[in-house]
Amino acid sequence: MGKHRILSPSMLSADFGNLERDTRLVDESAAEWVHIDVMDGVFVPNISFGFPVLKAIRQATRKFLDVHLMITRPMRYAERFVRAGSDLVTIHFEAVDDPAAALREIRGLGVKSGISIKPATPVSVLEGLLEYADVVLLMSVEPGFGGQSYIEGSTRKIMELRRMTDAAGTSTLIEVDGGINASNAGEVFRAGADVVVAGYAVFGADDPAGEILKILNA
Ligand code: DX5
Ligand code: ZN
Repeated sequence: MGKHRILSPSMLSADFGNLERDTRLVDESAAEWVHIDVMDGVFVPNISFGFPVLKAIRQATRKFLDVHLMITRPMRYAERFVRAGSDLVTIHFEAVDDPAAALREIRGLGVKSGISIKPATPVSVLEGLLEYADVVLLMSVEPGFGGQSYIEGSTRKIMELRRMTDAAGTSTLIEVDGGINASNAGEVFRAGADVVVAGYAVFGADDPAGEILKILNA
């Protein structure tokens, strides 16, 4: 506790017919980041959106754009995601052959680098990668869809990763993504998360800005 908590609302659950309204809502809220879920229908069994939507979101907010690439061979597109306005580009460990090289390349593009692991991937794979990653994104649901339930075993993984980052002495932030709401965000933050993502919990609420505060204060 007492540590700085960041919330990154996932635009996947926004109303795309009112994308500017929903982006401005986040822009004026206590959430510091904006989470962008890019899906290609190959790495995950769903397709979300790409560059034009990202650019529209960028135009409606000055907040930190946290871009989560759930796509195969993500480095083909990294530079375009940077040009579209990303502040952080997160790739999946499972989607690249050489994660360290990919993370170095992302930093070379002038933005923060992130690496994500799926629920079945152990945090031990991140050993040796922490020095190249500004953020580790732990998936607490199977990537592909918003509105799923938090996988309980994720809390242990957060604690294990917290021990690893503390031992490594790196300033890597721990971000947790999937099924987070005001009822379980306290557990996630206390386990060691710096950043939590919330999509359905925020945009499915009657008062999204109020819900953002509830999650941050959980
Ligand atoms: C899932 C995405 C998540 C998702 C989170 O593939 O990576 O970011 O949008 O949504 P909720 O909070 O609804 O689980
Ligand atoms: Zn995500």
